Amino acid sequence: MDYLDFFNLLEDPFRLTPDPFYFYPSHEHNEILSSLNYAVEQQEGFYLATGEPGTGKTTILKVFINNWRDKAEIALIMTPRLSPEEFLLALIEDLKITLNTKNKNEVIKSFRDFLVEHSSAGRRVIIIVDEAQNLPDETLEELRLLSNLETDKEKLLQIILIGQPELRNRLLTSAMRQLNQRITLRAALKPLGMNETSDYINYRLIKAGKGSVIFEEGARKLLFKRSKGIPRLINLIASRAMMAAYLDVSRNVRKRHIGYATRHLLDDTMNSNSGRWTRFGAKPVLAVFLVALAVLAVVAAFGTGMISIPPSGPAKAVPSKPIKEDMPVKVEIVTSSQTPPQNPEPKGVQASPSPSEVRRRIVVAVESAKLRPAPSFASEAATSAPRGKSFEVLAESSDAAGKKWYKVNDASGRECWISADVVKEE
Ligand SMILES: Nc1ncnc2c1ncn2[C@@H]1O[C@H](COP(=O)(O)OP(=O)(O)OP(=O)(O)O)[C@@H](O)[C@H]1O
Ligand SMILES: [Mg+2]
Repeated sequence: MDYLDFFNLLEDPFRLTPDPFYFYPSHEHNEILSSLNYAVEQQEGFYLATGEPGTGKTTILKVFINNWRDKAEIALIMTPRLSPEEFLLALIEDLKITLNTKNKNEVIKSFRDFLVEHSSAGRRVIIIVDEAQNLPDETLEELRLLSNLETDKEKLLQIILIGQPELRNRLLTSAMRQLNQRITLRAALKPLGMNETSDYINYRLIKAGKGSVIFEEGARKLLFKRSKGIPRLINLIASRAMMAAYLDVSRNVRKRHIGYATRHLLDDTMNSNSGRWTRFGAKPVLAVFLVALAVLAVVAAFGTGMISIPPSGPAKAVPSKPIKEDMPVKVEIVTSSQTPPQNPEPKGVQASPSPSEVRRRIVVAVESAKLRPAPSFASEAATSAPRGKSFEVLAESSDAAGKKWYKVNDASGRECWISADVVKEE
């Protein structure tokens, strides 16, 4: 049973792609969407929306584009580190304007003809620049010149700039004064509040198939506190916390799972920003992405079977100890390439202990520890032993992943193996 099966979900509810299917119309997100629609309907010309990283700007754009796809010609520039010429050509290509020349004046003329033609047919032409804080000054100036393309009656082109808050500050500099004056509508996207964070979690879970996962009240509150209501951080933490709950064989995501997830995912980011999410530098954001990618890779690997979980019990991975909020989790995972043979007489078994060693004892340190016929997580558990159960050590072994195992007798006297991760020495 994999992670999604365990929670009865159809897919990962907290993926990081800005997928319109998962769009949660929070008050903040809806306001931006409405103002965008208004700007284009009213042909306001220049529109600017800014927001901290991960607040949902690109997601809103995707929803907006879906709404306008059939009613407008849209050019979407997602990688705006382009020179004015490259930018212009990217627009031409996106709008599928055919050019007979690369002479700039001719290009602009073709562009204007295209705008006039579509305007008279009642269709809007929209240029959207995502990550617009990365536009070079000269390219911003080029955009301003393009926005001059208007008839006596109306603006021919709707320009939407979306970016991080530094874009707004850049436009306030004297060099950008002219462009700044063109902007007729501006909006700032804020993070979600506590109640909306909670609704957001429910919403995404329902979209992913509802499932049987329950985020407890305390978990939601802590998740809000840690994420500051920023959707990308909510997704990152929620996803990792669900994994921690899964490893804890719990369908309830508890406060301690959020604590665990936060520490493991975001420690560096929070520390390097003194706990202030509003001041991400490039490195911490990159760090979050890398961690996110790692998490996604692990989740994907679970899905594809690249990582196999020990095949027994409702959740097949066993944390070495119950997860506490301040305790890192040691997870028993073996990769398929590491899976040792199921042969109960494994390689690497140490010679039978001497009489003095025979007296060594171990005691189960988790709620329930699996006893397996072979020293491998791939070996189907035959039985289990409760916390506090004591065993005499008959032999020791290591599996292919270097994990230590003890040979013991179960209650009926059969020899079996128990992982060293779930016991402590008496
Ligand atoms: N309203 C929303 N509904 C559902 N998911 C959302 C919403 N807002 C953001 N998200 C999720 O949060 C994550 C980040 O969103 P998005 O990429 O749109 O942020 P962004 O503001 O464009 O960030 P950046 O500044 O880094 O580009 C994505 O996984 C996205 O699915
Ligand atoms: Mg974005």
